[in-house]
Amino acid sequence: MPTRIKQFIKRVVEKYKSPMIPIHWIKTDQNSWLSQQFNFAFIKPEKSIYSSRIEKLSEQTNQLGVQPLWEGYAGNNVGGLTRAPDDVRTVASMGNLYTFLVQKCKPNIIVEFGTAFGVSGMYFLAGIESNGTGKLLTFEPNDVWAKLAKNNLYQISDRFDCILGTFEVNIDSSLPQGQCIDMAFIDAIHTKEFVIPQLEIVVAKSSSGAIIILDDINFSDNMRECWKEVSTDSRFSASAELGERVGILELKRLG
Ligand SMILES: C[S@@+](CC[C@H](N)C(=O)[O-])C[C@H]1O[C@@H](n2cnc3c(N)ncnc32)[C@H](O)[C@@H]1O
Repeated sequence: MPTRIKQFIKRVVEKYKSPMIPIHWIKTDQNSWLSQQFNFAFIKPEKSIYSSRIEKLSEQTNQLGVQPLWEGYAGNNVGGLTRAPDDVRTVASMGNLYTFLVQKCKPNIIVEFGTAFGVSGMYFLAGIESNGTGKLLTFEPNDVWAKLAKNNLYQISDRFDCILGTFEVNIDSSLPQGQCIDMAFIDAIHTKEFVIPQLEIVVAKSSSGAIIILDDINFSDNMRECWKEVSTDSRFSASAELGERVGILELKRLG
């Protein structure tokens, strides 16, 4: 079955199924911040006051139709040279969970890559805006997508920078001097060859106890292998799977 059709079916199923998200721990320690937030087998993320606006903006963006994929995908492009905005977005229930995490963790700096059309970014930004503090640095090399994303993000908050370019090339010049990453969302090219070096940059620039989220951990055998490796890495005090798609890590606290 073509990838587009599979993604469409998955989206419809995700839209209508119960938004209960199962949590499967790979490793945990009772002192970790994450295990204190999620002490049940499932989490049911509540909608925030921004949720309906985010979904409306996402729907309007999707109605614009397919948009050109970034040329940097080259051989990693499965599914053609264009994507509809809904093909690449984070689903609402997971987005609400990201807003919840930001509200609880109150990070100063959240880093996200890629932005795509700004859907996951809007959910992170909703948490920042309701905290009244923090900043989202979101990276996107596709200029067409980044422009649409910026318009969406501004409807939620102006506490963000949307950087046109890749995370790897631009993080040094974008991270404010003396500041660290407190939360990161890695959602770019889903292969181990890209994700591991990106994760290493994130870890090197993160604060003690930072939360790192990886999307599409079950995208392929290659991504499953990647997740197996990072989720058992001794630098993390906790790691868990949120549903079938998202992996979450907590960096060990120093001292
Ligand atoms: C799956 S989409 C992101 C979806 C978005 N996070 C959301 O949930 O709404 C992946 C995006 O990553 C971008 N991308 C690919 N490699 C990147 C990199 N090295 N740095 C930043 N963005 C990248 C792509 O252009 C694409 O827009």
